[in-house]
Amino acid sequence: HDFSRRKFPILHCFRSLIVKETAELQNFQTIPDDLLISTYPKSGTTWMSEILDMIYQDGKLEKCRRAPIYARVPFLEFKCPGVPSGLESLEETPAPRLLKTHLPLSLLPPSLLDQKIKVIYIARNPKDVAVSYYNFYSMAKGLFPDPGTWESFLENFMDGKVSYGSWFQHVKEWWELTHTHPVLYLFYEDMKEDPKREIKKILEFLGHSLPEETVDLIVYHTSFKKMKENPMANYTTLSSHHMDHSVSPFMRKGVAGDWKNTFTVAQNERFDVQYAEKMAGCDLIFRWQV
Ligand SMILES: *[C@@H]1O[C@H](CO)[C@@H](O)[C@H](O)[C@H]1NC(C)=O
Repeated sequence: HDFSRRKFPILHCFRSLIVKETAELQNFQTIPDDLLISTYPKSGTTWMSEILDMIYQDGKLEKCRRAPIYARVPFLEFKCPGVPSGLESLEETPAPRLLKTHLPLSLLPPSLLDQKIKVIYIARNPKDVAVSYYNFYSMAKGLFPDPGTWESFLENFMDGKVSYGSWFQHVKEWWELTHTHPVLYLFYEDMKEDPKREIKKILEFLGHSLPEETVDLIVYHTSFKKMKENPMANYTTLSSHHMDHSVSPFMRKGVAGDWKNTFTVAQNERFDVQYAEKMAGCDLIFRWQV
């Protein structure tokens, strides 16, 4: 495969592409042992994908360097003319497979839920998500329309008028799913605080055990610094037409609480009001820094 020439999905077109391709996506059949990584965008998807691939490869680094992260963990709804789709990539992936999605539940292929496929969901506080998403829109010029000013982007984010829709709905509906499905619901901030503790939760959820030194190795190699310099994880295998890392690198800061450097006091107050309204009655608790 020449991964550098593989195009990346046109994210802002996803909605229409999915609507067009709905039958194909909806008819997707899982196979036993599939594991789904689900997140709203910019919440630690690539981080979790690398952690899980390392677990699946028993910490063998050379194996994890076999291909870029988006080829090791196929992107379920990826669909772009002239490029292998997520579904096509999955057909070539040997079991046990890791799948990635950002889909809201309403668009998820039913087989995943019917077959009670295990899900690892990661949620991240929405202020950091909004800032990260804005930077991503700005650097991934070949994938997104111009995000406009930060001020207008933040309004659109709060209204769910961005790719993949409302953050609020996404985190809440996947949280609800934990009542009826095998979902391990994790938080980005907890992973920053103590990655080893969270990796151990993942191992327990998978019913998989690894020697302590392998767990330490995984913690080390999935640190922000290590992943940023890993060409199989940092997305520099894509052409600069799709992602321009000189505008803002894909691996930008990887911290919790960075929103404070972007939000104005007024924006923060407005966000808090919206947050309280939209999260009313939900028992999810987010941490705004660690
Ligand atoms: C990606 O990894 C390569 C190889 O280590 C490194 O040279 C490059 O600076 C990294 N790119 C970014 C944008 O982090």
